[in-house]
Amino acid sequence: MKLLEGKSAIVTGASRGIGRAIALEYARQGASVVLNASRASDALAGTAAAIRDLGASCETVPGSVTEEATARALVEKAVEAFGKLDVLINNAGIVRDKPLAMMSEKEFDEVLAVNLRGVYQCSRAAVREMMKQRHGRIVSISSVAALAGRPGQCNYTAAKAGIVGFTKSLAREVGKFNVLANALFVGVVETEMTRRMPPAAKKELRQVIPLQRVGRPEEVAGPCVFLGSDLSTYVTGTTINVSGGSYV
Ligand SMILES: NC(=O)c1ccc[n+]([C@@H]2O[C@H](COP(=O)([O-])OP(=O)(O)OC[C@H]3O[C@@H](n4cnc5c(N)ncnc54)[C@H](OP(=O)(O)O)[C@@H]3O)[C@@H](O)[C@H]2O)c1
Repeated sequence: MKLLEGKSAIVTGASRGIGRAIALEYARQGASVVLNASRASDALAGTAAAIRDLGASCETVPGSVTEEATARALVEKAVEAFGKLDVLINNAGIVRDKPLAMMSEKEFDEVLAVNLRGVYQCSRAAVREMMKQRHGRIVSISSVAALAGRPGQCNYTAAKAGIVGFTKSLAREVGKFNVLANALFVGVVETEMTRRMPPAAKKELRQVIPLQRVGRPEEVAGPCVFLGSDLSTYVTGTTINVSGGSYV
Protein backbone atom coordinates (compact mmCIF):
# COMPACT_ATOMS: atom_id res chain seq x y z
CA MET A 1 0.00 0.00 0.00
CA LYS A 2 1.33 3.44 -0.94
CA LEU A 3 0.70 5.99 1.81
CA LEU A 4 0.69 9.13 -0.37
CA GLU A 5 -1.06 7.87 -3.50
CA GLY A 6 -2.45 10.78 -5.54
CA LYS A 7 -1.03 13.48 -3.29
CA SER A 8 0.86 16.55 -4.43
CA ALA A 9 3.78 17.85 -2.39
CA ILE A 10 6.43 20.57 -2.36
CA VAL A 11 9.85 19.81 -0.84
CA THR A 12 12.23 22.75 -0.36
CA GLY A 13 15.98 22.17 -0.24
CA ALA A 14 15.59 18.97 -2.23
CA SER A 15 18.88 18.98 -4.15
CA ARG A 16 20.67 16.81 -1.56
CA GLY A 17 20.66 15.47 1.98
CA ILE A 18 17.44 15.23 3.95
CA GLY A 19 15.30 17.07 1.38
CA ARG A 20 16.36 14.71 -1.39
CA ALA A 21 15.58 11.68 0.80
CA ILE A 22 12.13 13.09 1.68
CA ALA A 23 11.32 13.83 -1.97
CA LEU A 24 12.36 10.32 -3.05
CA GLU A 25 10.32 8.65 -0.31
CA TYR A 26 7.30 10.81 -1.17
CA ALA A 27 7.64 9.64 -4.79
CA ARG A 28 7.96 6.00 -3.69
CA GLN A 29 4.79 6.42 -1.65
CA GLY A 30 2.86 7.65 -4.70
CA ALA A 31 3.10 11.45 -4.44
CA SER A 32 3.87 13.89 -7.25
CA VAL A 33 6.53 16.33 -6.10
CA VAL A 34 7.64 19.91 -6.78
CA LEU A 35 11.35 20.17 -5.94
CA ASN A 36 13.13 23.35 -4.86
CA ALA A 37 16.70 24.44 -4.10
CA SER A 38 18.22 27.92 -4.15
CA ARG A 39 19.45 27.52 -7.72
CA ALA A 40 19.22 25.23 -10.73
CA SER A 41 22.05 22.70 -10.36
CA ASP A 42 23.10 19.21 -11.42
CA ALA A 43 22.18 18.06 -7.92
CA LEU A 44 18.61 19.34 -8.21
CA ALA A 45 18.30 17.82 -11.69
CA GLY A 46 19.69 14.58 -10.20
CA THR A 47 16.90 14.39 -7.60
CA ALA A 48 14.34 15.04 -10.36
CA ALA A 49 15.84 12.28 -12.54
CA ALA A 50 15.84 9.81 -9.63
CA ILE A 51 12.15 10.55 -9.00
CA ARG A 52 11.23 10.10 -12.66
CA ASP A 53 13.16 6.79 -12.63
CA LEU A 54 10.75 5.69 -9.92
CA GLY A 55 7.88 6.38 -12.33
CA ALA A 56 6.64 9.39 -10.36
CA SER A 57 5.91 12.91 -11.62
CA CYS A 58 8.00 15.85 -10.56
CA GLU A 59 8.71 19.48 -11.40
CA THR A 60 11.57 21.73 -10.30
CA VAL A 61 11.30 25.36 -9.18
CA PRO A 62 14.73 26.79 -8.30
CA GLY A 63 14.93 29.98 -6.24
CA SER A 64 15.62 31.06 -2.69
CA VAL A 65 12.90 30.27 -0.17
CA THR A 66 13.62 33.66 1.36
CA GLU A 67 11.79 35.27 -1.59
CA GLU A 68 8.03 35.63 -1.87
CA ALA A 69 8.29 35.08 -5.64
CA THR A 70 9.82 31.61 -5.12
CA ALA A 71 7.14 30.62 -2.62
CA ARG A 72 4.36 31.72 -4.97
CA ALA A 73 6.00 29.96 -7.93
CA LEU A 74 6.24 26.70 -5.95
CA VAL A 75 2.54 26.71 -5.10
CA GLU A 76 1.51 27.77 -8.59
CA LYS A 77 3.59 24.96 -10.10
CA ALA A 78 2.01 22.33 -7.82
CA VAL A 79 -1.50 23.49 -8.70
CA GLU A 80 -0.77 23.87 -12.43
CA ALA A 81 1.03 20.51 -12.77
CA PHE A 82 -0.87 18.35 -10.26
CA GLY A 83 -4.17 20.19 -9.72
CA LYS A 84 -3.74 20.83 -5.96
CA LEU A 85 -1.27 21.09 -3.10
CA ASP A 86 -1.58 18.56 -0.29
CA VAL A 87 1.75 18.87 1.54
CA LEU A 88 4.49 21.46 1.99
CA ILE A 89 7.78 20.24 3.48
CA ASN A 90 9.82 23.22 4.74
CA ASN A 91 13.25 21.62 4.68
CA ALA A 92 15.68 24.18 3.16
CA GLY A 93 18.28 25.24 5.71
CA ILE A 94 21.81 26.58 6.13
CA VAL A 95 24.34 27.01 8.93
CA ARG A 96 26.92 29.77 9.49
CA ASP A 97 28.42 28.59 12.78
CA LYS A 98 30.51 30.96 14.90
CA PRO A 99 30.71 32.00 18.55
CA LEU A 100 28.28 34.85 19.17
CA ALA A 101 31.06 37.29 20.06
CA MET A 102 32.45 36.90 16.52
CA MET A 103 29.16 36.45 14.62
CA SER A 104 28.48 39.17 12.08
CA GLU A 105 25.03 40.62 11.47
CA LYS A 106 25.22 39.10 7.99
CA GLU A 107 25.82 35.60 9.42
CA PHE A 108 22.94 36.05 11.83
CA ASP A 109 20.54 37.46 9.23
CA GLU A 110 21.35 34.91 6.50
CA VAL A 111 20.59 32.00 8.78
CA LEU A 112 17.36 33.56 10.07
CA ALA A 113 16.36 34.40 6.48
CA VAL A 114 16.68 30.88 5.06
CA ASN A 115 15.69 28.83 8.12
CA LEU A 116 12.84 30.97 9.44
CA ARG A 117 11.74 33.59 6.89
CA GLY A 118 11.79 30.79 4.30
CA VAL A 119 9.30 28.85 6.42
CA TYR A 120 7.12 31.97 6.66
CA GLN A 121 7.25 32.65 2.89
CA CYS A 122 6.50 29.10 1.78
CA SER A 123 3.91 28.40 4.48
CA ARG A 124 2.05 31.65 3.74
CA ALA A 125 1.86 30.89 0.02
CA ALA A 126 0.82 27.28 0.75
CA VAL A 127 -1.89 28.00 3.34
CA ARG A 128 -3.60 30.45 1.00
CA GLU A 129 -4.15 27.54 -1.40
CA MET A 130 -4.80 24.97 1.32
CA MET A 131 -7.46 27.11 3.03
CA LYS A 132 -9.34 27.33 -0.29
CA GLN A 133 -9.05 23.54 -0.71
CA ARG A 134 -10.11 22.93 2.89
CA HIS A 135 -7.21 20.57 3.44
CA GLY A 136 -3.42 20.54 3.60
CA ARG A 137 -0.32 19.72 5.62
CA ILE A 138 2.69 21.84 6.51
CA VAL A 139 5.73 19.98 7.86
CA SER A 140 8.76 22.03 8.94
CA ILE A 141 12.22 20.71 9.78
CA SER A 142 13.48 22.03 13.12
CA SER A 143 16.40 20.63 15.11
CA VAL A 144 17.12 19.19 18.55
CA ALA A 145 19.66 22.03 18.75
CA ALA A 146 16.64 24.29 19.29
CA LEU A 147 15.86 22.32 22.48
CA ALA A 148 19.32 21.73 23.86
CA GLY A 149 21.28 24.70 22.48
CA ARG A 150 24.63 24.28 20.76
CA PRO A 151 27.73 26.48 21.03
CA GLY A 152 28.43 28.37 17.80
CA GLN A 153 24.80 28.16 16.70
CA CYS A 154 22.99 31.12 18.32
CA ASN A 155 21.70 32.10 14.86
CA TYR A 156 20.66 28.58 13.84
CA THR A 157 19.02 27.64 17.14
CA ALA A 158 17.10 30.93 17.24
CA ALA A 159 15.70 30.14 13.80
CA LYS A 160 14.94 26.50 14.60
CA ALA A 161 13.25 27.41 17.91
CA GLY A 162 11.29 30.05 15.98
CA ILE A 163 9.87 27.31 13.76
CA VAL A 164 8.29 25.66 16.81
CA GLY A 165 6.31 28.74 17.90
CA PHE A 166 5.45 29.48 14.29
CA THR A 167 4.09 25.96 13.82
CA LYS A 168 1.96 26.06 16.98
CA SER A 169 0.43 29.43 16.07
CA LEU A 170 -0.20 28.33 12.50
CA ALA A 171 -1.85 25.10 13.67
CA ARG A 172 -4.25 27.13 15.84
CA GLU A 173 -5.00 29.53 13.00
CA VAL A 174 -5.72 27.11 10.17
CA GLY A 175 -7.09 24.03 11.94
CA LYS A 176 -10.65 25.11 11.11
CA PHE A 177 -9.74 24.81 7.44
CA ASN A 178 -8.48 21.25 7.98
CA VAL A 179 -4.92 22.44 7.44
CA LEU A 180 -2.47 20.74 9.82
CA ALA A 181 0.97 22.10 10.80
CA ASN A 182 3.69 20.10 12.51
CA ALA A 183 7.48 20.13 12.88
CA LEU A 184 10.30 17.64 13.42
CA PHE A 185 13.13 17.96 15.94
CA VAL A 186 15.86 16.32 13.90
CA GLY A 187 19.10 15.12 15.51
CA VAL A 188 22.48 14.85 13.81
CA VAL A 189 22.12 13.31 10.37
CA GLU A 190 24.92 12.42 7.95
CA THR A 191 24.70 15.07 5.19
CA GLU A 192 26.75 17.84 3.58
CA MET A 193 25.69 20.08 6.50
CA THR A 194 27.41 17.88 9.09
CA ARG A 195 30.27 16.63 6.87
CA ARG A 196 32.74 19.12 8.34
CA MET A 197 32.09 18.07 11.94
CA PRO A 198 35.46 16.79 13.31
CA PRO A 199 35.61 12.96 13.62
CA ALA A 200 36.37 13.27 17.34
CA ALA A 201 33.18 15.31 17.85
CA LYS A 202 31.18 12.71 15.91
CA LYS A 203 32.65 9.91 18.05
CA GLU A 204 31.78 11.78 21.24
CA LEU A 205 28.30 12.41 19.93
CA ARG A 206 27.69 8.74 19.13
CA GLN A 207 28.43 7.88 22.75
CA VAL A 208 25.62 10.11 24.04
CA ILE A 209 23.02 9.07 21.46
CA PRO A 210 20.98 6.15 22.86
CA LEU A 211 20.92 4.55 19.39
CA GLN A 212 24.75 4.99 19.29
CA ARG A 213 24.88 6.41 15.77
CA VAL A 214 24.01 9.50 13.77
CA GLY A 215 20.93 9.34 11.57
CA ARG A 216 20.56 8.72 7.86
CA PRO A 217 18.55 11.16 5.69
CA GLU A 218 16.02 8.40 4.89
CA GLU A 219 15.24 8.13 8.60
CA VAL A 220 13.83 11.66 8.55
CA ALA A 221 11.72 10.86 5.50
CA GLY A 222 9.55 8.27 7.28
CA PRO A 223 8.05 10.66 9.86
CA CYS A 224 7.48 13.18 7.03
CA VAL A 225 5.48 10.55 5.17
CA PHE A 226 3.40 9.90 8.30
CA LEU A 227 2.69 13.64 8.75
CA GLY A 228 1.69 14.03 5.09
CA SER A 229 -0.48 10.91 5.01
CA ASP A 230 -4.00 9.94 6.07
CA LEU A 231 -2.46 8.21 9.12
CA SER A 232 -2.12 11.59 10.87
CA THR A 233 -5.46 13.32 10.31
CA TYR A 234 -5.77 14.34 14.00
CA VAL A 235 -2.14 15.41 14.56
CA THR A 236 -1.45 19.15 14.52
CA GLY A 237 0.58 21.78 16.36
CA THR A 238 3.13 19.27 17.55
CA THR A 239 6.72 18.17 17.00
CA ILE A 240 8.16 14.70 16.52
CA ASN A 241 11.64 14.07 17.89
CA VAL A 242 13.71 12.25 15.24
CA SER A 243 17.08 12.16 16.94
CA GLY A 244 17.86 8.57 17.96
CA GLY A 245 16.97 9.71 21.47
CA SER A 246 19.77 12.29 21.63
CA TYR A 247 17.37 14.67 23.36
CA VAL A 248 14.73 13.01 25.54
N1 LIG B 1 21.99 17.31 8.92
C1 LIG B 1 21.65 17.45 10.17
O1 LIG B 1 22.31 16.92 11.08
C2 LIG B 1 20.42 18.23 10.55
C3 LIG B 1 19.99 18.18 11.89
C4 LIG B 1 18.83 18.89 12.26
C5 LIG B 1 18.14 19.60 11.30
N2 LIG B 1 18.59 19.64 10.01
C6 LIG B 1 17.83 20.44 9.08
O2 LIG B 1 17.42 19.63 7.99
C7 LIG B 1 17.31 20.43 6.81
C8 LIG B 1 18.12 19.80 5.69
O3 LIG B 1 19.47 19.75 6.11
P1 LIG B 1 20.59 18.88 5.35
O4 LIG B 1 21.47 18.32 6.42
O5 LIG B 1 19.98 17.97 4.37
O6 LIG B 1 21.41 20.05 4.64
P2 LIG B 1 22.18 20.13 3.26
O7 LIG B 1 22.69 18.80 2.87
O8 LIG B 1 23.15 21.25 3.40
O9 LIG B 1 21.01 20.54 2.24
C9 LIG B 1 20.37 21.77 2.37
C10 LIG B 1 19.40 21.95 1.22
O10 LIG B 1 18.81 23.26 1.33
C11 LIG B 1 18.98 23.94 0.09
N3 LIG B 1 19.03 25.38 0.32
C12 LIG B 1 19.96 26.10 0.97
N4 LIG B 1 19.64 27.41 0.97
C13 LIG B 1 18.46 27.51 0.30
C14 LIG B 1 17.62 28.59 -0.04
N5 LIG B 1 17.92 29.85 0.28
N6 LIG B 1 16.49 28.32 -0.75
C15 LIG B 1 16.18 27.07 -1.12
N7 LIG B 1 16.94 26.01 -0.81
C16 LIG B 1 18.07 26.22 -0.12
C17 LIG B 1 20.26 23.33 -0.50
O11 LIG B 1 20.32 23.43 -1.89
P3 LIG B 1 21.23 24.49 -2.71
O12 LIG B 1 22.53 24.62 -1.97
O13 LIG B 1 21.34 23.87 -4.04
O14 LIG B 1 20.39 25.69 -2.67
C18 LIG B 1 20.06 21.88 -0.12
O15 LIG B 1 19.20 21.26 -1.04
C19 LIG B 1 17.77 21.83 7.21
O16 LIG B 1 16.66 22.63 7.54
C20 LIG B 1 18.61 21.57 8.44
O17 LIG B 1 18.70 22.70 9.26
C21 LIG B 1 19.71 18.98 9.63
